[in-house]
Order: sequence, then C-alpha cells, then structure tokens
Amino acid sequence: MRDRVRRAAAELGQLLTAAGIGLAGLFLLVLMLISVPAGLVAGVGIPLFVTASRLARRLADLQRRRVGAVLGQPIPSPYPPLPTGLFAQARALVRASATWRDLTWSLCQLVVGVAGAGLGLGLWLTAGQCLVAPLLRVVLPADATFDPVVLELVGRSGPTTWLLVPVGAALVVVAHRVPRPVLVGQARLAAALLEPTAAVALSARVDELTATRTAAVDASAVELRRVERDLHDGAQVRLVAVAMSLGMAEDVIDSDPAAAKALMVEAKAGTGAALSELRDLVRGIHPPVLADRGLPGALQALALGGGIPVELDVRLDRRLTDPVESAAYFAVAEGLTNAIRYSSAHRIQVAVLDEGRVLRIRVRDDGRGGADPTRGTGLRGIRRRLSAFDGTLRVSSPVGGPTVLDMELPCAS
Ligand SMILES: Nc1ncnc2c1ncn2[C@@H]1O[C@H](COP(=O)(O)OP(=O)(O)OP(=O)(O)O)[C@@H](O)[C@H]1O
Ligand SMILES: [Mg+2]
Repeated sequence: MRDRVRRAAAELGQLLTAAGIGLAGLFLLVLMLISVPAGLVAGVGIPLFVTASRLARRLADLQRRRVGAVLGQPIPSPYPPLPTGLFAQARALVRASATWRDLTWSLCQLVVGVAGAGLGLGLWLTAGQCLVAPLLRVVLPADATFDPVVLELVGRSGPTTWLLVPVGAALVVVAHRVPRPVLVGQARLAAALLEPTAAVALSARVDELTATRTAAVDASAVELRRVERDLHDGAQVRLVAVAMSLGMAEDVIDSDPAAAKALMVEAKAGTGAALSELRDLVRGIHPPVLADRGLPGALQALALGGGIPVELDVRLDRRLTDPVESAAYFAVAEGLTNAIRYSSAHRIQVAVLDEGRVLRIRVRDDGRGGADPTRGTGLRGIRRRLSAFDGTLRVSSPVGGPTVLDMELPCAS
C-alpha cells in the first residue's frame, strides 16, 4: 500500500516536472525571440541568444535523461562542442538543426506537459473532493449559499452526496492508472524529437572513430618506441658485450686458454641475459601463456600471481583473435595489479563473458576505492588499448570502495 502511494506521488511529481520543463522551455524560447529585437541594441542580443540557447540545450539534456529513465534507453546528446567566441557560438547555434528541433520539442513539451499535469492533478483533486463530499455537507452550514462548484461537489441533496463516494473511489483507481501511460507517451514524443538525427549520429560516429583511430595509431607508435628502446638498451647491449668477449677470447685462446675460458663463460652468461630480456619483451607484446593456454588459462595464471584471492569467472569457449586476447589480458592484468597495489582489498573478482559480438570484462575489488584514471598511465592505457577496437572502459570507484572496472571489447569474428 505504502509503495503504491509512493509510486502515485512520484508519478504525479514527474507529471508536474514535465509541465515545469515545458514552462521553462517557453521562457527560454521567449528569451531567444526577444534577443532578435534586442540585437538592435548593440551588445545585448547575441549574448542573450547564446545564453538562452545554451540553457535550452541543458534543459533538453535534462529531458533526455528523464526519457532515458522512463523508456530504459538513454538518448545521446546530439550537440558537437561549441566553438570559442560569442559570435562563432551564435553562428553555430543558429546553423545547428538541433537548436530548432529543441525549440519544436519545447513547444510540444509545453502542451503535453501542462495537459498531462492538469489531467493528473485534476483527477486526484476531483477524486479527493468526491470522497470528502459527505463530510463537507455536514461541515458547511445548511443555509450556506453554495457557489456552483461547491454545489456540484457536495451534491444537491443528502443521498446524492453519498453517491459521490463510489465515484471518488473509481476516480482514485483511474488517477492511479493514468499517469504512467501519459508519462510514457510524453517520453516517446520527446524521444522522437530529441534523438540525434541520422546525419548527426553519423557525424558523431565519424568523429569518434577518427579520435579512436588517432589514439590507436598513437598507442602503437608508443609501443613501437618502447620495443625499440628495450631492444636498443637491453638485448643489443648484451649481444655487443657477448661479441666483444668472444673476440677477446679468440685473441687470447692460444696464449692464455684459461683467460679465454673465463671470457667465454662471461659471453655465455651474456647470451642468457639477452635471451631473458628478449623473452620479457615478447611477453610484453604477446604473452606466450596466451598463445599456449588461451585467454582463460592466461587469466588463471594471472589470478594465481597476486597476494589477494581472486575469484575468476570466465565464460568463453572460443579463441579470439590475438590482438583481442592481448588487449583483454593486459586490461585484466592492469586491473589486478592496481587492486593489489592500491586497494587493500580482501577479495578481487574477475568476470569475463563472451556475448558473441562483445566481450564483457569486469574487475572488481572490495577495497578502499578512489581509482582515478587521471592520476596515472595504467587506466588510461587500458582505455587507449580498448578504444583501438572501439571498446570502452568505465571506472566506478567511490571513496570507500568498491572499485569496479567495466570493460567492453568488441570481438565479433
Ligand atoms: N583498485 C584500486 N583501488 C584504489 N585505488 C586505485 C585502484 N586502481 C587505481 N587506483 C588509484 O588510481 C590511480 C591511477 O591508476 P593507474 O593504474 O591509472 O596509474 P598507476 O597505477 O598509478 O600507474 P601505472 O599503472 O602507470 O603504473 C593510482 O595511482 C591509484 O591511486
Ligand atoms: Mg596502474
């Protein structure tokens, strides 16, 4: 019962909010219209237009979020970032089709919002009045001169007053049922008007792909430089030392076999070190454990490595392409390393779910939270790696925990 009352109050509140948004939209529309004659007064019109339009965008974004909550499907914001400079902004706003679609929406919102709120409020008020009508008949003095509304309200005579009670009860049922479809209808209308048009969605997608392609190219350039540096400073130096030792051994092998032997032992140790550095390097590019045991096995090996117990739940029955497996592996490795280094968690959970077109990965720890991708390179590195595949990383880490990394990695084969 209490839930029903709460739901009815919330729905009525939403209807009233929708009307409020409609009225705010009207206010901004009027401001934008005023800005045209105000433009004649130098220096007033353009700032007024830009401010009103930007506020209208915020209002439309607020409505997009509300619609997302009602329909369960978020509506993306269609606005590209505005240029700097007042004149450039005004020009961009006038040219953007979204500005005019927003205005159309705000007019529709005004009509359906006010109508919906009037209907919802009217039904509840009328229901309430009908239910208390017999009480009013008793309370009001017998010789009171009723105005027409009160007369209708309390009924013309005693018995008809009591007839209003079941009418009130029926109206309560109606008032309870009506807001939901009205809200859904309002949300559908707003969704149709506020959704980015196909052209805008396409251009946003092109921008996103350009950005992720640049990130991918940058990431591979950085990776290549790292490999080059590691080879130069590591294996190459060792091999040069080996060559020198062997050369010196060759020089002295006849005159001083013992010294030559010592030099050869040194050279052998050098080749061992060079090999292990090359192995480390390869591990950083495509870990051999991935090639040998696939992603589930490689993750199992990772999970055993740290000091905190890791619960692993991998639902993946096929081999993915090498780059996808590598990206998933390094992402989980970074998540685990961070959790072990910073979180003081008691438990870490890693879940991998193959959904066919996308691989969902979650790394969760019950530690202290506070992970912040702007404070290091690890989380940003994951984001960059994933973005090369059009994948995403979401970090949720409130202070006090838990920390959850949610990753999506497109993997359709
Ligand atoms: N699981 C976690 N729990 C608590 N804090 C975290 C967690 N993960 C990351 N952090 C915090 O967020 C910061 C950023 O993490 P990120 O992995 O991006 O960089 P880093 O680990 O500091 O450096 P790098 O990964 O480059 O060695 C860390 O410095 C740490 O303070
Ligand atoms: Mg890190």
